[in-house]
Amino acid sequence: MQYDEQKIQDFMTRMVGEFGAVASAPLIALGDRLGLYKAMKEQDWMTSEQLAERTGFAERYVREWLAAQAASGFIHYEAGSARYRLDNEMAMCFAEKTSPTFIPGFCDCAKAMFRGLPKLEAAFRTGLGVGWHEQHPSLFKGTERFFRPGYAAHLVDEWIPALDGVDARLRQGGARVADVGCGHGASTVLMAQAYPEAIFFGFDYHEPSILIARDRAREAGVADRVRFEVGSAQQFPGGDYDLVTFFDCLHDMGDPAGAVAHVLRTLKPDGSWMIVEPFANDRLEDNLNSVGRVYYSASTMMICTAASLAQEGGRALGAQAGETRLREVVNSGGFTRFRRATQTPFNLVFQAQA
Ligand SMILES: C[S@@+](CC[C@H](N)C(=O)[O-])C[C@H]1O[C@@H](n2cnc3c(N)ncnc32)[C@H](O)[C@@H]1O
Repeated sequence: MQYDEQKIQDFMTRMVGEFGAVASAPLIALGDRLGLYKAMKEQDWMTSEQLAERTGFAERYVREWLAAQAASGFIHYEAGSARYRLDNEMAMCFAEKTSPTFIPGFCDCAKAMFRGLPKLEAAFRTGLGVGWHEQHPSLFKGTERFFRPGYAAHLVDEWIPALDGVDARLRQGGARVADVGCGHGASTVLMAQAYPEAIFFGFDYHEPSILIARDRAREAGVADRVRFEVGSAQQFPGGDYDLVTFFDCLHDMGDPAGAVAHVLRTLKPDGSWMIVEPFANDRLEDNLNSVGRVYYSASTMMICTAASLAQEGGRALGAQAGETRLREVVNSGGFTRFRRATQTPFNLVFQAQA
Protein backbone atom coordinates (compact mmCIF):
# COMPACT_ATOMS: atom_id res chain seq x y z
CA MET A 1 0.00 0.00 0.00
CA GLN A 2 1.17 3.49 -0.76
CA TYR A 3 0.48 6.37 1.59
CA ASP A 4 0.31 10.08 1.10
CA GLU A 5 2.39 11.11 4.13
CA GLN A 6 1.28 14.72 3.89
CA LYS A 7 -2.35 13.72 3.96
CA ILE A 8 -1.79 11.72 7.14
CA GLN A 9 0.14 14.59 8.72
CA ASP A 10 -2.60 17.08 7.89
CA PHE A 11 -5.25 14.79 9.25
CA MET A 12 -3.35 14.16 12.49
CA THR A 13 -2.87 17.90 12.94
CA ARG A 14 -6.61 18.25 12.73
CA MET A 15 -7.13 15.28 15.06
CA VAL A 16 -4.95 16.84 17.77
CA GLY A 17 -7.57 19.59 17.87
CA GLU A 18 -10.25 16.92 18.19
CA PHE A 19 -8.37 15.22 21.04
CA GLY A 20 -8.26 18.57 22.78
CA ALA A 21 -12.01 19.00 22.38
CA VAL A 22 -12.70 15.57 23.87
CA ALA A 23 -10.22 16.09 26.74
CA SER A 24 -11.68 19.54 27.44
CA ALA A 25 -15.22 18.30 27.92
CA PRO A 26 -14.72 16.87 31.42
CA LEU A 27 -12.76 19.99 32.41
CA ILE A 28 -15.64 22.20 31.27
CA ALA A 29 -17.97 20.02 33.33
CA LEU A 30 -15.62 20.35 36.29
CA GLY A 31 -15.35 24.13 35.97
CA ASP A 32 -19.12 24.28 35.88
CA ARG A 33 -19.63 21.96 38.86
CA LEU A 34 -17.01 23.65 41.01
CA GLY A 35 -18.07 27.17 40.05
CA LEU A 36 -14.62 28.06 38.69
CA TYR A 37 -15.99 29.93 35.66
CA LYS A 38 -18.46 31.77 37.85
CA ALA A 39 -15.67 32.77 40.21
CA MET A 40 -13.80 34.32 37.25
CA LYS A 41 -16.82 36.08 35.78
CA GLU A 42 -16.61 39.89 35.80
CA GLN A 43 -13.27 39.72 37.59
CA ASP A 44 -10.03 41.41 36.70
CA TRP A 45 -6.91 39.41 35.86
CA MET A 46 -6.21 36.91 38.64
CA THR A 47 -3.48 34.45 39.58
CA SER A 48 -4.09 30.79 40.28
CA GLU A 49 -3.51 31.56 43.98
CA GLN A 50 -6.23 34.20 43.89
CA LEU A 51 -8.70 31.88 42.17
CA ALA A 52 -7.83 29.07 44.59
CA GLU A 53 -8.36 31.39 47.53
CA ARG A 54 -11.62 32.70 46.11
CA THR A 55 -13.03 29.21 45.53
CA GLY A 56 -11.38 27.30 48.39
CA PHE A 57 -9.86 24.67 46.06
CA ALA A 58 -6.32 23.29 45.97
CA GLU A 59 -4.06 25.76 44.12
CA ARG A 60 -2.04 23.15 42.24
CA TYR A 61 -5.18 21.68 40.68
CA VAL A 62 -6.62 25.13 39.97
CA ARG A 63 -3.39 26.15 38.22
CA GLU A 64 -3.43 23.10 35.95
CA TRP A 65 -7.10 23.64 35.12
CA LEU A 66 -6.36 27.28 34.27
CA ALA A 67 -3.51 26.23 31.98
CA ALA A 68 -5.83 23.84 30.15
CA GLN A 69 -8.47 26.57 29.79
CA ALA A 70 -5.88 28.99 28.42
CA ALA A 71 -4.52 26.39 25.98
CA SER A 72 -8.09 25.81 24.81
CA GLY A 73 -8.50 29.53 24.18
CA PHE A 74 -11.35 29.77 26.69
CA ILE A 75 -9.52 32.22 28.97
CA HIS A 76 -6.67 34.70 28.48
CA TYR A 77 -3.22 34.30 30.00
CA GLU A 78 -0.80 37.14 30.70
CA ALA A 79 2.67 35.61 30.81
CA GLY A 80 4.48 38.48 32.58
CA SER A 81 2.23 38.43 35.63
CA ALA A 82 1.09 34.77 35.40
CA ARG A 83 -2.50 35.95 35.61
CA TYR A 84 -5.68 34.73 33.90
CA ARG A 85 -8.93 36.35 32.83
CA LEU A 86 -12.30 35.12 31.58
CA ASP A 87 -13.74 37.73 29.22
CA ASN A 88 -17.43 38.63 29.13
CA GLU A 89 -18.14 36.70 25.93
CA MET A 90 -16.63 33.48 27.31
CA ALA A 91 -18.44 34.08 30.61
CA MET A 92 -21.70 34.01 28.60
CA CYS A 93 -20.72 30.59 27.26
CA PHE A 94 -19.38 29.01 30.45
CA ALA A 95 -20.84 30.82 33.45
CA GLU A 96 -24.32 32.04 32.44
CA LYS A 97 -26.72 29.13 32.63
CA THR A 98 -29.52 31.17 31.05
CA SER A 99 -27.45 32.34 28.09
CA PRO A 100 -28.42 30.81 24.71
CA THR A 101 -24.75 29.95 24.22
CA PHE A 102 -24.32 28.11 27.55
CA ILE A 103 -22.03 25.13 26.87
CA PRO A 104 -21.69 22.96 30.01
CA GLY A 105 -25.11 21.31 29.48
CA PHE A 106 -23.66 19.62 26.42
CA CYS A 107 -20.87 18.17 28.57
CA ASP A 108 -23.50 16.56 30.82
CA CYS A 109 -24.88 14.88 27.68
CA ALA A 110 -21.36 13.84 26.63
CA LYS A 111 -20.87 12.20 30.02
CA ALA A 112 -24.02 10.15 29.44
CA MET A 113 -22.74 9.17 25.98
CA PHE A 114 -19.58 7.68 27.45
CA ARG A 115 -21.51 6.00 30.25
CA GLY A 116 -23.92 4.54 27.69
CA LEU A 117 -21.24 2.92 25.52
CA PRO A 118 -21.59 -0.65 26.86
CA LYS A 119 -25.35 -0.59 26.20
CA LEU A 120 -24.83 0.83 22.73
CA GLU A 121 -22.19 -1.77 21.92
CA ALA A 122 -24.64 -4.50 22.85
CA ALA A 123 -27.36 -2.78 20.80
CA PHE A 124 -25.15 -2.76 17.69
CA ARG A 125 -24.84 -6.54 18.04
CA THR A 126 -28.52 -7.25 18.66
CA GLY A 127 -30.18 -4.45 16.70
CA LEU A 128 -32.35 -3.76 19.74
CA GLY A 129 -32.88 -0.27 21.10
CA VAL A 130 -31.74 1.53 24.23
CA GLY A 131 -34.64 3.39 25.81
CA TRP A 132 -34.36 7.00 26.91
CA HIS A 133 -35.12 5.75 30.44
CA GLU A 134 -32.12 3.39 30.29
CA GLN A 135 -29.62 6.22 29.86
CA HIS A 136 -27.45 7.77 32.55
CA PRO A 137 -29.32 10.57 34.42
CA SER A 138 -26.72 13.06 33.14
CA LEU A 139 -28.55 12.90 29.83
CA PHE A 140 -31.83 14.12 31.33
CA LYS A 141 -30.13 16.92 33.22
CA GLY A 142 -27.90 17.79 30.27
CA THR A 143 -30.80 17.91 27.82
CA GLU A 144 -32.61 20.39 30.05
CA ARG A 145 -29.52 22.54 30.61
CA PHE A 146 -28.47 22.47 26.96
CA PHE A 147 -31.91 22.99 25.36
CA ARG A 148 -33.57 25.37 27.82
CA PRO A 149 -31.45 28.45 27.02
CA GLY A 150 -32.30 28.08 23.31
CA TYR A 151 -35.99 27.77 24.13
CA ALA A 152 -35.75 30.81 26.41
CA ALA A 153 -34.19 32.80 23.57
CA HIS A 154 -36.56 31.76 20.76
CA LEU A 155 -39.72 29.99 21.82
CA VAL A 156 -41.92 32.83 23.04
CA ASP A 157 -40.42 35.71 21.07
CA GLU A 158 -39.96 34.02 17.69
CA TRP A 159 -41.32 30.50 17.33
CA ILE A 160 -44.87 30.88 18.66
CA PRO A 161 -45.41 34.21 16.84
CA ALA A 162 -44.32 32.46 13.61
CA LEU A 163 -47.30 30.07 13.91
CA ASP A 164 -50.58 31.21 12.31
CA GLY A 165 -53.06 32.35 14.94
CA VAL A 166 -51.42 30.66 17.93
CA ASP A 167 -50.13 33.65 19.90
CA ALA A 168 -53.55 35.34 19.85
CA ARG A 169 -55.24 32.11 20.83
CA LEU A 170 -52.98 31.59 23.84
CA ARG A 171 -53.73 35.09 25.05
CA GLN A 172 -57.44 34.32 25.19
CA GLY A 173 -58.64 32.97 28.53
CA GLY A 174 -58.68 29.21 28.99
CA ALA A 175 -56.63 28.03 25.98
CA ARG A 176 -55.44 24.45 26.56
CA VAL A 177 -51.91 23.37 25.64
CA ALA A 178 -50.38 19.89 25.77
CA ASP A 179 -46.57 19.71 25.68
CA VAL A 180 -45.73 16.11 24.81
CA GLY A 181 -42.33 14.48 25.44
CA CYS A 182 -41.79 17.42 27.77
CA GLY A 183 -38.81 15.98 29.68
CA HIS A 184 -38.04 18.29 32.61
CA GLY A 185 -40.69 20.72 31.39
CA ALA A 186 -38.41 23.56 30.28
CA SER A 187 -40.60 24.45 27.29
CA THR A 188 -43.85 23.98 29.23
CA VAL A 189 -42.80 26.32 32.03
CA LEU A 190 -41.53 28.99 29.62
CA MET A 191 -44.84 28.96 27.75
CA ALA A 192 -46.81 29.04 30.99
CA GLN A 193 -44.85 32.08 32.16
CA ALA A 194 -45.49 33.87 28.87
CA TYR A 195 -49.20 33.05 28.62
CA PRO A 196 -50.79 33.45 32.06
CA GLU A 197 -54.33 32.99 30.70
CA ALA A 198 -53.67 29.51 29.30
CA ILE A 199 -53.67 26.08 30.97
CA PHE A 200 -50.77 23.72 30.33
CA PHE A 201 -50.37 19.95 30.49
CA GLY A 202 -46.98 18.30 30.17
CA PHE A 203 -46.66 14.62 29.28
CA ASP A 204 -43.68 12.31 29.06
CA TYR A 205 -43.42 8.54 29.35
CA HIS A 206 -40.35 8.92 31.61
CA GLU A 207 -41.62 9.24 35.18
CA PRO A 208 -38.40 10.57 36.80
CA SER A 209 -38.49 13.47 34.30
CA ILE A 210 -42.11 14.23 35.17
CA LEU A 211 -41.26 14.40 38.89
CA ILE A 212 -38.54 16.97 38.13
CA ALA A 213 -40.87 18.89 35.81
CA ARG A 214 -43.34 19.26 38.69
CA ASP A 215 -40.56 20.77 40.81
CA ARG A 216 -39.71 23.16 37.97
CA ALA A 217 -43.34 24.34 37.78
CA ARG A 218 -43.41 24.93 41.54
CA GLU A 219 -40.09 26.79 41.47
CA ALA A 220 -41.37 29.03 38.64
CA GLY A 221 -44.65 29.74 40.47
CA VAL A 222 -46.84 28.33 37.69
CA ALA A 223 -47.89 25.03 39.29
CA ASP A 224 -51.51 26.22 39.54
CA ARG A 225 -51.79 26.26 35.72
CA VAL A 226 -49.35 23.52 34.73
CA ARG A 227 -49.97 19.83 35.31
CA PHE A 228 -47.31 17.26 34.53
CA GLU A 229 -48.39 13.64 34.10
CA VAL A 230 -46.77 10.45 32.90
CA GLY A 231 -48.17 9.73 29.44
CA SER A 232 -47.01 8.49 26.08
CA ALA A 233 -47.35 10.45 22.85
CA GLN A 234 -49.69 7.77 21.55
CA GLN A 235 -52.02 7.79 24.56
CA PHE A 236 -51.72 11.00 26.57
CA PRO A 237 -55.00 11.94 28.23
CA GLY A 238 -57.34 14.86 27.67
CA GLY A 239 -58.61 16.53 24.55
CA ASP A 240 -59.86 19.80 23.11
CA TYR A 241 -56.35 21.17 23.04
CA ASP A 242 -55.83 24.47 21.24
CA LEU A 243 -52.15 23.72 20.85
CA VAL A 244 -50.10 20.53 21.10
CA THR A 245 -46.32 20.90 21.14
CA PHE A 246 -43.53 18.37 20.56
CA PHE A 247 -40.04 19.66 21.32
CA ASP A 248 -37.23 17.53 19.99
CA CYS A 249 -39.02 14.25 20.50
CA LEU A 250 -41.11 13.20 17.46
CA HIS A 251 -38.11 11.57 15.79
CA ASP A 252 -37.29 9.76 19.08
CA MET A 253 -40.52 7.84 18.95
CA GLY A 254 -40.85 4.25 17.79
CA ASP A 255 -44.33 4.93 16.49
CA PRO A 256 -44.43 8.54 15.31
CA ALA A 257 -47.46 7.72 13.12
CA GLY A 258 -49.35 6.60 16.23
CA ALA A 259 -48.40 9.90 17.87
CA VAL A 260 -49.63 11.85 14.83
CA ALA A 261 -53.00 10.07 14.90
CA HIS A 262 -53.37 10.69 18.63
CA VAL A 263 -52.50 14.38 18.35
CA LEU A 264 -55.16 14.75 15.66
CA ARG A 265 -57.75 13.13 17.95
CA THR A 266 -56.90 15.37 20.90
CA LEU A 267 -56.70 18.73 19.06
CA LYS A 268 -59.66 21.05 18.63
CA PRO A 269 -60.67 21.02 14.92
CA ASP A 270 -58.99 24.39 14.38
CA GLY A 271 -56.11 23.72 16.79
CA SER A 272 -52.43 23.64 15.89
CA TRP A 273 -49.59 21.21 16.40
CA MET A 274 -46.16 22.76 16.84
CA ILE A 275 -43.29 20.41 16.07
CA VAL A 276 -39.75 21.48 16.91
CA GLU A 277 -37.08 19.23 15.46
CA PRO A 278 -33.30 19.37 15.08
CA PHE A 279 -32.24 21.39 12.04
CA ALA A 280 -31.61 19.06 9.11
CA ASN A 281 -31.64 19.08 5.35
CA ASP A 282 -33.35 16.19 3.60
CA ARG A 283 -30.24 14.65 2.08
CA LEU A 284 -27.36 13.16 4.03
CA GLU A 285 -24.85 14.91 1.78
CA ASP A 286 -26.35 18.25 2.77
CA ASN A 287 -25.96 17.50 6.49
CA LEU A 288 -22.25 16.79 6.34
CA ASN A 289 -21.33 19.85 8.40
CA SER A 290 -20.57 20.64 12.04
CA VAL A 291 -24.24 20.80 13.13
CA GLY A 292 -25.04 17.55 11.32
CA ARG A 293 -21.99 15.97 12.90
CA VAL A 294 -23.22 16.72 16.42
CA TYR A 295 -26.74 15.52 15.63
CA TYR A 296 -25.76 12.33 13.80
CA SER A 297 -23.37 11.47 16.62
CA ALA A 298 -25.91 12.06 19.38
CA SER A 299 -28.52 10.24 17.32
CA THR A 300 -26.32 7.16 17.01
CA MET A 301 -25.17 7.27 20.61
CA MET A 302 -28.39 7.35 22.48
CA ILE A 303 -30.86 10.07 22.13
CA CYS A 304 -32.72 9.31 18.96
CA THR A 305 -32.10 6.20 16.91
CA ALA A 306 -31.52 3.92 19.89
CA ALA A 307 -34.43 5.46 21.83
CA SER A 308 -36.81 4.92 18.92
CA LEU A 309 -35.65 1.36 18.29
CA ALA A 310 -36.49 0.60 21.94
CA GLN A 311 -40.14 1.53 21.41
CA GLU A 312 -42.93 -0.34 19.67
CA GLY A 313 -42.72 0.40 15.95
CA GLY A 314 -39.00 1.15 15.98
CA ARG A 315 -39.34 3.69 13.14
CA ALA A 316 -35.97 5.30 13.99
CA LEU A 317 -36.28 8.50 11.98
CA GLY A 318 -33.01 9.72 13.51
CA ALA A 319 -32.13 13.24 14.58
CA GLN A 320 -31.58 14.33 10.98
CA ALA A 321 -35.00 13.29 9.74
CA GLY A 322 -35.47 16.50 7.73
CA GLU A 323 -38.61 18.22 6.50
CA THR A 324 -39.66 15.82 3.74
CA ARG A 325 -39.66 12.72 5.96
CA LEU A 326 -41.38 14.59 8.79
CA ARG A 327 -44.01 15.91 6.39
CA GLU A 328 -44.71 12.36 5.18
CA VAL A 329 -45.19 11.13 8.75
CA VAL A 330 -47.45 14.04 9.70
CA ASN A 331 -49.55 13.93 6.52
CA SER A 332 -49.92 10.15 6.66
CA GLY A 333 -51.55 10.55 10.08
CA GLY A 334 -54.29 12.78 8.67
CA PHE A 335 -52.98 16.35 8.92
CA THR A 336 -53.57 18.19 5.66
CA ARG A 337 -51.58 21.34 6.41
CA PHE A 338 -47.91 21.23 7.33
CA ARG A 339 -45.47 24.08 6.93
CA ARG A 340 -42.06 25.19 8.12
CA ALA A 341 -42.89 28.22 10.26
CA THR A 342 -39.34 29.25 11.10
CA GLN A 343 -35.89 27.89 11.83
CA THR A 344 -32.61 28.53 13.61
CA PRO A 345 -29.21 26.97 12.84
CA PHE A 346 -30.15 24.22 15.32
CA ASN A 347 -33.92 23.81 14.99
CA LEU A 348 -36.73 23.50 12.48
CA VAL A 349 -40.15 24.69 13.67
CA PHE A 350 -43.26 23.32 11.94
CA GLN A 351 -46.97 23.99 12.25
CA ALA A 352 -49.46 21.25 11.39
CA GLN A 353 -53.22 21.65 11.21
CA ALA A 354 -56.01 19.22 10.45
C1 LIG B 1 -34.60 14.79 23.60
S1 LIG B 1 -35.73 14.70 24.89
C2 LIG B 1 -36.54 16.28 24.78
C3 LIG B 1 -37.19 16.68 26.08
C4 LIG B 1 -37.89 18.05 26.04
N1 LIG B 1 -38.98 18.07 25.08
C5 LIG B 1 -36.92 19.15 25.72
O1 LIG B 1 -36.92 19.63 24.59
O2 LIG B 1 -36.15 19.52 26.62
C6 LIG B 1 -36.96 13.59 24.30
C7 LIG B 1 -38.08 13.33 25.28
O3 LIG B 1 -39.10 12.58 24.63
C8 LIG B 1 -39.61 11.64 25.55
N2 LIG B 1 -40.23 10.57 24.78
C9 LIG B 1 -39.65 9.73 23.90
N3 LIG B 1 -40.55 8.89 23.37
C10 LIG B 1 -41.76 9.22 23.92
C11 LIG B 1 -43.08 8.71 23.77
N4 LIG B 1 -43.35 7.73 22.93
N5 LIG B 1 -44.07 9.28 24.50
C12 LIG B 1 -43.79 10.30 25.35
N6 LIG B 1 -42.57 10.81 25.54
C13 LIG B 1 -41.55 10.28 24.83
C14 LIG B 1 -38.39 11.21 26.35
O4 LIG B 1 -38.74 10.61 27.55
C15 LIG B 1 -37.66 12.53 26.50
O5 LIG B 1 -38.05 13.21 27.67
